[in-house]
Amino acid sequence: DGTLLAPTPPMGWMTWNYFADNINEKDIREMADAMVSSGMLKAGYNHVFIDDGWQGGRDKRNNMIGDPKKFPSGIKALADYVHSKGLKLGIYSDAAPLTCAGYTASLNFEDQDAKTFASWDVDYLKYDYCGAPDDMEVAKTRYKKIADALRKSGRDIALGICEWGDRKPWLWAGQVGGQLWRTTADVRDKWKSLKPVKKQSELHGTGAGILDIVDYSQQYGSYAGPGHWNDMDMLVVGLYGKKGPSGDLGGVGCTDTEYQSQMSLWSIMNSPLAATNDVRNMNAETKRILLNDEVIAINQDALGKQAVCKIKNDTWSVFVKPLANGDFAIAILNRTETTQNSKINFAELGLNDTYEIKDLWEHKVIGKGKKWNGKVQRHETKVFRLKKI
Ligand code: DGJ
Repeated sequence: DGTLLAPTPPMGWMTWNYFADNINEKDIREMADAMVSSGMLKAGYNHVFIDDGWQGGRDKRNNMIGDPKKFPSGIKALADYVHSKGLKLGIYSDAAPLTCAGYTASLNFEDQDAKTFASWDVDYLKYDYCGAPDDMEVAKTRYKKIADALRKSGRDIALGICEWGDRKPWLWAGQVGGQLWRTTADVRDKWKSLKPVKKQSELHGTGAGILDIVDYSQQYGSYAGPGHWNDMDMLVVGLYGKKGPSGDLGGVGCTDTEYQSQMSLWSIMNSPLAATNDVRNMNAETKRILLNDEVIAINQDALGKQAVCKIKNDTWSVFVKPLANGDFAIAILNRTETTQNSKINFAELGLNDTYEIKDLWEHKVIGKGKKWNGKVQRHETKVFRLKKI
């Protein structure tokens, strides 16, 4: 009906990195409650995204059903509960007969499954690509099929394309009807891949850390904009390498400085922000990072321009993002293992005016001028908002 789905990057909480497929309606209801009581919903995290593992196969009419043991009240009842809290519900399927974790998926049932999801009042579908051919044309066809089915379902359901960047989705995902597409292999709770990789697809084997995903996603910025986003995968903020019910997904844990960097970089690069920690039990640092409204405002800015990486060397990555009101956000990442002194002339970034500089992690104006000099800790990212004066 002409409504733009996902005019800004979708936000919410996703089940996968904490629970994997060990999900159930009780935990998800508790998480929805915690999204409200912790301030996550108020900060903009307005979806509960159910990932793989909810499926209980098909009934006699081939309609998909939730696993009756995990979801005894059914998915519709869970959707109603989530909606009653002011949240939206996301669900998950795959473009093959079975999902990555081996559950019933949607190939050749696209129209029927889209209608089922619509009848449950689902708002979002993450559509995975395990068990499907490594072929760009097949991927396009299968994603178009589910996108068309969603459009015909009678409900506005946004589509997240999850084929991990292997078949260049930035080139086609928007055209076939996706609102976002993953750019890399799955994020792990770690700073970077323990083994260096020579190409993006090798991250499936080594596991992608925060820095890998930044490095491999920055180049696709020109494809993103309102209604179509580069999805850098979930925020791992607050996981601390703990093995939750998900077991071991291959994370080793990060420092709070590194989690702050993830929040900074996902925000300035316009990634969807899907937290995946246990929001029922967040420490003060995790809350400080996830609930930074000034950083979230950079992510949700109406102009919808992904930051451009203007400086990239062994020591620094520096990003610039224009904002709707004429301000600029900049992010300064120290890639090294030691504290570094930064000396940045804003003119090097193409910013030739004089600016008031607000530090969005300190929540204060730290100066005025045409440059910034200061210390950045190992793996830290500074985020400044520059206002022309
Ligand atoms: C692979 C995806 O990339 C993950 O985010 C998650 O959805 C799993 N599949 C679920 O099996």
